[in-house]
Amino acid sequence: MDGVSKGVVEGFSELDIRSGLVTRRIGAALHLFQDIDSTSEQAALLAERGASEGTVVIAHAQRRGRGRMGRQWASPAGLGIYFSVILRPPIPAQRAPALALLGAAAAAEAIDRATGLATGIKWPNDLIVRERKVGGVLGEAAVEGASLQHVILGIGLNVNQTEADFEGRLRTTATSLRIESGRFIDRIAMIRSLCEILDSWYERFLSDGIGPILERVRERCLTLGRQVVGRSGDEELGGLAVEIDDAGALVIRDVKGQLRRLFAGDVTLTG
Ligand code: BTN
Repeated sequence: MDGVSKGVVEGFSELDIRSGLVTRRIGAALHLFQDIDSTSEQAALLAERGASEGTVVIAHAQRRGRGRMGRQWASPAGLGIYFSVILRPPIPAQRAPALALLGAAAAAEAIDRATGLATGIKWPNDLIVRERKVGGVLGEAAVEGASLQHVILGIGLNVNQTEADFEGRLRTTATSLRIESGRFIDRIAMIRSLCEILDSWYERFLSDGIGPILERVRERCLTLGRQVVGRSGDEELGGLAVEIDDAGALVIRDVKGQLRRLFAGDVTLTG
């Protein structure tokens, strides 16, 4: 257990983030932590205890940041944004995965606004600048029977890391907004902007469904038109990525010309 949240942690305070924040839901409650296992784990705990939609958990550092597919998310102190939000959309449980696409579209927009960069999305929700990963989104749904209890959207952004801050494989696959834009990024302003963009996309989702978000994801998608190998569980699927369909699945045309859909998992770009 990570203890109670604080109004002030190293690098930012609740007051800093709130100042000028204009949102309807996202950030209605803010929980800040100096050092936590995982903001998404904490958000899930709060959600189970009844925390309201829009509650945000932010940490200065994570000890056990979680990535997709059971991977770790490197979360060094003070360098990145480690952000999770509780959503309680009135939708069937099987539509919950689409919300991670909403997270990716919103985070990409927040990066572009803060830096002037052009952020791409590698399906399903890797945030890519100049072919390297600057961030990712982890969507986790809590389901009881057929009913969706809540979704935790966890967003991790590499913000002020220098090359020396990346270790191992990340040295060749990851980058940060500071490296790519050539300047130090104000994390507080970016968190505020992320809350505002998420808020307006989520309102749009509640009124118009996933369609407009899928349009935005398709515009930014680096996967479409590329040869890919998709993996989901034990299944491996190679071919040309031709479409993101209306359910958010990646449609791959295999060597036999058959269209196959990947609903979850990971893709590697091979050509
Ligand atoms: C990915 O694998 O690309 C998704 C990474 C998501 C990382 C974020 S950091 C904030 C939140 N807390 C976690 O433990 N994970 C997510």
